[in-house]
Amino acid sequence: MKALKVPGPNAKAFIERDLKVVSPSYPRGYPFVMDHGKGTEVWDVDGNRFLDFAAGIAVASTGHSHPDVVKAIQEQAEKFIHISSDFYHEKWIELSEKLAEISPFQEDACVFLTNSGTESVEGAIKLARYHTNRSNFIGFLGGFHGRTIGAVTFTASKPNYKRRFFPLMNGVTHVPFPDPYRPILNLEPGQDYGQRVIEYIKEQVFEKILPPDEVAGILVEPIQGEGGYIVPPAGFFPALRELCDKHGILLIADEVQAGMGRTGKWWSIENFGVEPDIITSAKGIASGMPLGALITKKSVMSWPKGSHGNTYGGNPIACAASLATINAIQNGYMENALITGTYTLEKLKEMQIRHPSIGEVRGIGFMIGIEFVKDQQSKKSDADIRDRVVDLAYEYGLLTLGCGKSVIRVSPPLCTTKEQVDEGLEILDYVISLAENG
Ligand SMILES: Cc1ncc(COP(=O)(O)O)c(C=O)c1O
Repeated sequence: MKALKVPGPNAKAFIERDLKVVSPSYPRGYPFVMDHGKGTEVWDVDGNRFLDFAAGIAVASTGHSHPDVVKAIQEQAEKFIHISSDFYHEKWIELSEKLAEISPFQEDACVFLTNSGTESVEGAIKLARYHTNRSNFIGFLGGFHGRTIGAVTFTASKPNYKRRFFPLMNGVTHVPFPDPYRPILNLEPGQDYGQRVIEYIKEQVFEKILPPDEVAGILVEPIQGEGGYIVPPAGFFPALRELCDKHGILLIADEVQAGMGRTGKWWSIENFGVEPDIITSAKGIASGMPLGALITKKSVMSWPKGSHGNTYGGNPIACAASLATINAIQNGYMENALITGTYTLEKLKEMQIRHPSIGEVRGIGFMIGIEFVKDQQSKKSDADIRDRVVDLAYEYGLLTLGCGKSVIRVSPPLCTTKEQVDEGLEILDYVISLAENG
């Protein structure tokens, strides 16, 4: 297998200019400078072709520049680009109807459109406080919910998201997320680790530090994303739902990364047979146009006129892109995410047998994490080998992204084919061997 000559001279020149004027806060990894893309393929400014298993952090759900999405954007741009949330327009209403239709609630749904994941989370925090007239929340260690002050208070995947940004929002208590690979709570033999976490909330939080009748909401990623692509055990969500029902607490599912068909269902929480009260969405919802949504049971969205809003919410171009995106996901890509995602997971599990540095492969659909360890017995994280694999994959033509302490996420566009998976995994297999052999 031959390495690409990357970064090429054009990429280097762009990065030099970028360094002078773009905020240094962005966590850029390797020096990929995009020129254009089509589906799961992307090209850099020096003409090098890559397969994209990162999809712009799980955003390009329909692939890069899907023709239906491009057409919807072009047609809407010809008509009008903006009118503000003070007025009405058809695409906004149509998209809200569509999101309500695909929401997982028994009762009717109501929708508030935003511009990003973090804005969806801020909206959920405010709505939960408004609706319950309570001010406290529970969040999970390892969770990622965004970077604005409210959302970053919940974010608990890395300390640098918070360093020198204190004081944050009041009233958030973090508890362990049920990571079955690395449980941090002791377990009775045969006990479901998800139920163990709920027991911890009852005994260590509700009986010691936080009256449950003062908790507005529990904010949780049904599958942790940035924290390491962690799938909770089956017993977790039913027990969490029961706990919320008992105390009148809203269950808020952050579906920004895991939702919109990525796990073969519209919402990843549906894999656990549980209905939330509020969903936060963004990323894959509009194939890359900046759009997010707060989707709730109709009875929960009880805030009155003027209590919450935004200027760009319901932007017509983003709504048009989202409608085309949802249509494509509904007509094949969600099914492909499950079928080809399951195929990918199985292939990666075979690969694990050949590679002692892979501790675990886990996930649902096209949301797969590969955990790198120093050895499979101790399960000690190996961030160095993970970083080497990510860099080498780029050099051999595959875009991937890390998450957690030592995990690579496989989150390609939902249109990715079995042939593209085979091509990408061949590169991954090869570069893991290179990294393992130093
Ligand atoms: C689960 C989750 N929630 C919220 C966010 C924040 O979204 P954004 O970066 O669009 O603000 C992210 C982003 O990665 C996410 O993965």
